[in-house]
Amino acid sequence: MICTVVGARPNFMKMAPVILELQRRGIAQTFVHTGQHYDAVMSDIFFAELGLPRPDIYLGVGSGSHAEQTARVMLAFEKVCLEHRPELVVVGGDVNSTLACALSAAKLCIPVAHLEAGLRSFDRSMPEEINRILTDHVSDLLFTSEPSGNENLHKEGVAWQKIHLVGNCMIDSLRTHLKRALERRPWTELGLQPGEFGLVTLHRPAAVDDPQTLEGLRQALREIAEFVPLLFPVHPRTRKCIEALGHDWTPVRLIDPLGYLEFLGLMAKAAVVLTDSGGIQEETTALRVPCVTLRSNTERPITVQVGSNRLAGTRRDGIVSAAREAVMRKAEEFLIPELWDGQAARRVVNIVQHWLLARQAA
Ligand code: UD1
Repeated sequence: MICTVVGARPNFMKMAPVILELQRRGIAQTFVHTGQHYDAVMSDIFFAELGLPRPDIYLGVGSGSHAEQTARVMLAFEKVCLEHRPELVVVGGDVNSTLACALSAAKLCIPVAHLEAGLRSFDRSMPEEINRILTDHVSDLLFTSEPSGNENLHKEGVAWQKIHLVGNCMIDSLRTHLKRALERRPWTELGLQPGEFGLVTLHRPAAVDDPQTLEGLRQALREIAEFVPLLFPVHPRTRKCIEALGHDWTPVRLIDPLGYLEFLGLMAKAAVVLTDSGGIQEETTALRVPCVTLRSNTERPITVQVGSNRLAGTRRDGIVSAAREAVMRKAEEFLIPELWDGQAARRVVNIVQHWLLARQAA
């Protein structure tokens, strides 16, 4: 039996194609949701829209400090491993649930597969960077989404035979659902014209926790909203920081977090996307929509190499000029990375099946 794990919002679209492919092939699976994200808008809606089955096991760990959250997942997931003894645990991405489940399994000598392995920002102040490095080093199968992942892992001493460049599972979800997302025309009810608005997301501690940085971002976004209307679905953590700051964001339109299909439809028709998210850098790349990343580094360098993504940092002037330039750019200028073709999950499951057969034969 294979145990698949999700915990937080970006996990859902990365893991869904693998979970569904295992299901299609009739491979026994126990599907676990750690409950790191638990709100209807942060979790339930993604299950419905991505066609994910109900989790077999829900750990309900909720929010907390990094140590609390990671420890709670570890304790609960260790029990799952002891009871179900999976042949392989599959985790995705870089959230606290990813590391916690990988670590619990590895300590019980249960092999771990990591989806989206090898990405590195080389910035250890990001909690995700710690999660990436540690998860990779306790994993037995490392599935990478871009060539930089293979290079990084190789430099860190991970054996070549463990590393498999499979492409991007998050883009599998995008390709499956894009048509349905566009048919909904989410821009219409928001009174926006396709190609004539910008979309904003912000949630990383480095961007929103420090009032001075958040204030600089607010000023930059207000200035940009003077030449392109900006819609900003606000993550719950960011909502708290914005409320604490207490400043006016108009004309930037702040709304509640959106579901997968609504957000995907909007992203596909945006003139520019401004974000600190990792996944959105990839999704805009696949959609060939200009992305201005509100960070000074990225663990996804391919998105910059193919032309759609620009790193603008968190300072006002850099962001405003990057946005001015981005709205002038055309999709034809951008390339799509190799293997971001909607078939990544099939490659993952092919490799997993071979690997299991080889282990059983050994
Ligand atoms: C987590 C991931 C981050 C990912 C992001 C996507 C880690 C270290 N970080 O960050 O990599 O990009 O998810 O969203 O794992 N909250 C709610 N409802 C929820 C979930 C969270 O209100 O359903 C609020 C809580 O106040 C919580 C805060 O958001 O304290 C932060 O949630 P948490 O899971 O700790 O991290 P994220 O910032 O969401």
